[in-house]
Amino acid sequence: MQPSAKFGRTLQFLACLACSRIAAFSLHPTAAAQLLRFTTAVSLAADPNEQMPASNDSSSIRSSPVTNTTIIRVLALHGSEGNGASFAQTLKVWRESLLQEVAIDFQVSSFDAPVPKGHGYAWWAMPPHVRSFNATSYEHFDTSCAAVLQHINNIRPHVILGHSQGAILITALLALNQIRPHPPLGYILNGVAWPNPYTDEMEALRVDRGSSATTIPKVLLIVGERDKMNAPDQTARVGNTLQQAGMNITIISHPAGHAVPVQDSTVNKALAEWLTSSVDRLIN
Ligand SMILES: *[C@@H]1O[C@H](CO)[C@@H](O)[C@H](O)[C@H]1NC(C)=O
Ligand SMILES: *[C@@H]1O[C@H](CO)[C@@H](O)[C@H](O)[C@H]1NC(C)=O
Ligand SMILES: *[C@@H]1O[C@H](CO)[C@@H](O)[C@H](O)[C@H]1NC(C)=O
Ligand SMILES: *[C@@H]1O[C@H](CO)[C@@H](O)[C@H](O)[C@H]1NC(C)=O
Repeated sequence: MQPSAKFGRTLQFLACLACSRIAAFSLHPTAAAQLLRFTTAVSLAADPNEQMPASNDSSSIRSSPVTNTTIIRVLALHGSEGNGASFAQTLKVWRESLLQEVAIDFQVSSFDAPVPKGHGYAWWAMPPHVRSFNATSYEHFDTSCAAVLQHINNIRPHVILGHSQGAILITALLALNQIRPHPPLGYILNGVAWPNPYTDEMEALRVDRGSSATTIPKVLLIVGERDKMNAPDQTARVGNTLQQAGMNITIISHPAGHAVPVQDSTVNKALAEWLTSSVDRLIN
């Protein structure tokens, strides 16, 4: 058995435990580093046989004669100072990998956040030296919230994915109970941090788990052990709290930093497992 599969199952078992004390312990920040460490850095590019076909034309992919692809619509929210187009470009590596490995067509939609920042955009503004995890308010949050809900309405995504500030935004929307209904495959949060202005709402959150295991909202958290931007204990706190709220939490830990680890084949395998394990939730 692959280490990732074994630990994935262990974490899953922990995630399923109803007892919040045990769950809290399982995701305690100090335990997290050892508990969650199960991936190794393996570069896709290192193996020439795993070279991905270069294509960014969705129609050519869909008409491919070799595969019967499952289309998964993804709404992707970039991080602070990013933009929609370059974030979608980054995620193409996942699209190619998932298409080859599990015949999933991971169709990403993205757009620019409303607040100009640096060379890109942000979902909110904050005073100097304040971070999302210690801010008392997010300026322009309502504008971003409305924009995201509008896109959810238009795209009807199967997955909502966020990186960094985009992941914090999704977490805040969950805390505020703004996303209804939950996307069938769930949420993917990379390099998330605590949405500090919504602490009370986070801690009071109890989600509607629906009537069966297939309707429990799912969250996949991806965390880099060397993330200096949003340290791993931030992910642990978010994961622990969403688990207590009743969501199904899976955590993928990898040895790198804050960026979306699109080149880590072990992460990609765990991502594919997480997606395929609930593909029966899709109502295309
Ligand atoms: C991908 O899209 C870019 C910009 O639209 C285009 O210049 C490039 O040729 C495309 N690449 C492939 C392989 O289709
Ligand atoms: C593709 O999927 C459809 C519907 O499930 C099935 O009927 C068909 O046989 C599949 N085609 C191939 C080539 O696998
Ligand atoms: C917020 O966190 C940053 C980074 O850790 C720190 O430099 C800053 O002083 C903190 N600000 C407040 C208001 O706590
Ligand atoms: C939670 O999600 C995992 C990973 O997709 C899945 O294997 C498991 O069955 C789910 N558990 C419940 C109780 O829905």
